[in-house]
Amino acid sequence: MRHFLTFEDFSKDEILEILALASKIKQEAKAKEYKPYLKNQTLAMIFEKSSTRTRVSFETGMYQLGGQALFLSSRDIQLGRGEPIKDTARVISSMVDMAMLRVYKQSDLVEFAKFSSVPVINGLSDDLHPVQLMADYMTMQECGSGDVVAYVGDGNNMANSWISMASILGFEIRIATPKGNETNPQITQKALQNAKKSGAKIILTNDPKEAVSGADVVTTDTWISMGQESEKEQKIKQFSGFCVDKDMMSLAKKDAIFLHCLPAYRGYEVSEEVFEKHAKEIFLEAENRLHAQKGVMVWLDSKRNG
Ligand code: CP
Ligand code: NVA
Repeated sequence: MRHFLTFEDFSKDEILEILALASKIKQEAKAKEYKPYLKNQTLAMIFEKSSTRTRVSFETGMYQLGGQALFLSSRDIQLGRGEPIKDTARVISSMVDMAMLRVYKQSDLVEFAKFSSVPVINGLSDDLHPVQLMADYMTMQECGSGDVVAYVGDGNNMANSWISMASILGFEIRIATPKGNETNPQITQKALQNAKKSGAKIILTNDPKEAVSGADVVTTDTWISMGQESEKEQKIKQFSGFCVDKDMMSLAKKDAIFLHCLPAYRGYEVSEEVFEKHAKEIFLEAENRLHAQKGVMVWLDSKRNG
C-alpha cells in the first residue's frame, strides 16, 4: 500500500505515471464519460485548516469516480478535543477506503499514515502541498510551457513542494525569498541530494529578478500562510520588492505563464494586472486540482495490494 505524503517517496516514473493517468481521466470526464474507478469507495477528508479548492475538488472528484467523500472538520471530531491521531487513524481507516488530511504538522500526517490501514493523502501541511504541485505540473504540460520555473515569495509549503518536485522530475527551479523566509532546511537538503541524481537545477536566492530572468513559468503564493496571521505586519515589510508585477514579469520569457495556487492577495504577492492577464492559466491550474487528484486516488487504489 502507498501513501501520497511527499514527493520524496516517489520516483520520476511514478509521478509521470500518475500525471498521465490524471490526463486520461480528465479527457474521459470532458467527454462526460465518468468511469467508476472507485465505485462505492469512501474518502474521509479531515481539515484542520480552511479550504475551498481542496475540499471541492476531492469531494467532486470522488463522486465522479463512483464513490463519496466525508468532510470532517477537526473542530467537530474528537481529534480536535485531543483524541490521539493514532486512534483516529485506526478508527477511520477501518470504515473508509482512503483518507485525505489538511494539517499543520507534517509529522501528524506521517503518524496518521503509520496507523492507517488505507492510503493517506497530504491535502496540505505547513511543510508541503504536493497535490497542488501535481495540478501545477499538469497545467505546465497542457500549456506547453518550458520547465524553468521561478518561484518568488515566501519559503513556505508551496516553495518547499516546488523544490521537492523539481528534484525528482529533474527540472530547473529558482526560489527567491526575502532573507529570513527561506525554504525548510531539511526539505531543501534532501532536494539538493536528489537533484544530483535527477539532474535538477535548484537555485536559491534573495533576488527575485535573478530568479525570474528568462524563466518559462513564474509563480508565487500568499506571504501569510494559514496559521501565520499574527506575523502579517512584519512579513509585509520583509516582502517589499517581492510582488510579481508587470515589471517583474517582463524579465521572464515573452510567452512565460504565471501560476498561483490561490487564494491570491492582489497588491501583495501579485499585482491585479498580472493576475488578470494570466487568469486563463491560473484558473486552469485550479480546475486541474480536480483532475490531478483523481489521478492520485485511482493510482493509490491500484497499489493497494502492492
Ligand atoms: N490551493 C488550495 O489548496 O486552495 P484551498 O486552500 O482553497 O484548498
Ligand atoms: N501557503 C498557503 C497555501 C494555501 C493553499 C497556506 O499554507 O496557507
